[in-house]
Amino acid sequence: MLEQLRSLEEEALAALAAVNDPEALKEWRVRYLGRRGALTTLMRGLGKLPPEERPQVGQAANRVKRALEEAFAEREAAIKAAELEAQLAAEAVDVTLPGRPVALGRLHPTTQSLRRIYEIFSDMGFQIYDAREVEYDEYNFGLLNMPPHHPARDMWDTFWINDRVLLRTHTSPGQIHAMREFYPNPIRVILPGKCYRYEQVTARSEFMFYQVEGLVVGRNITMADLKGTMENFVRRMYGGERRMRLRGSYFPFTEPSVEVDVDCVLCGGKGCRVCKYTGWLEVAGAGMVHPIVLRNGGYDPDEFTGYAFGMGVERPAMLKYRIDDIRYFYSNDPRFLAQI
Ligand code: PHE
Repeated sequence: MLEQLRSLEEEALAALAAVNDPEALKEWRVRYLGRRGALTTLMRGLGKLPPEERPQVGQAANRVKRALEEAFAEREAAIKAAELEAQLAAEAVDVTLPGRPVALGRLHPTTQSLRRIYEIFSDMGFQIYDAREVEYDEYNFGLLNMPPHHPARDMWDTFWINDRVLLRTHTSPGQIHAMREFYPNPIRVILPGKCYRYEQVTARSEFMFYQVEGLVVGRNITMADLKGTMENFVRRMYGGERRMRLRGSYFPFTEPSVEVDVDCVLCGGKGCRVCKYTGWLEVAGAGMVHPIVLRNGGYDPDEFTGYAFGMGVERPAMLKYRIDDIRYFYSNDPRFLAQI
């Protein structure tokens, strides 16, 4: 039996040396040290030995058992260490690799254009006044001197919410809100915001766009103030070498009314496709606030005068970046947005 123990130990140790993974290790343990393993089976035969041999064989069996258990523990530790080693190697982070570039967002061209406009008018002492996009018919038209059925309403078709409520077609209704809020104080504000028009969407016109309205009301405000303000704006927005002209026009809420033109930034006034060979680009509608409109805002036209203007916001961005289709502004195509 001693001989059997010896050869069992030898066999077990040899088998253990070939074990390389946790599965095989478990199998080895069941096979040699388990409750029905080789060593246990062998030790069950102990009782059949003559009593005087038992202590010696018993001791030997215990020694083999301990030896196998120790060898098992050692092997187990070695396999675990090797596994950890492999895992560390596989999950290693190479801290010397260059980082991934962070994609930077940027401001929408309309926002850039708006902020430039705010900057210029802030420098001239204008405040920014926020007015609503959803308006009463009364404010968008009536109080601006366009009673129901006035033919000038045909210039602006819009989206109706119900019989009285619509999406504003221009920022001019904000003039009434501003006057009613500021009365009886003098006013110098710009009113930026979105406007809507129910019309065919083309490369040149969207159903939704931005405007910036300007309103100045006070004593002794004249057309010269309007002209000076527009000239300053045009030079700062489009370049110091630009020329400006005021061309007679018509709006129901201003009298007299003008269009503010800038000599074409693309051809310098020689005439090109963009300016339709006129040499001029229209950048704003403007005029002296109509007495009826002043009165609707609460101001006495015998005491107060004022001027107003309304300009597009996408247009200057189109000129600056040579964008030839206004639909890009709201189509959310990152290929467009990432360029500017
Ligand atoms: N509201 C006019 C438009 O949308 C522009 C304008 C504003 C004209 C203020 C005169 C004064 O066309």
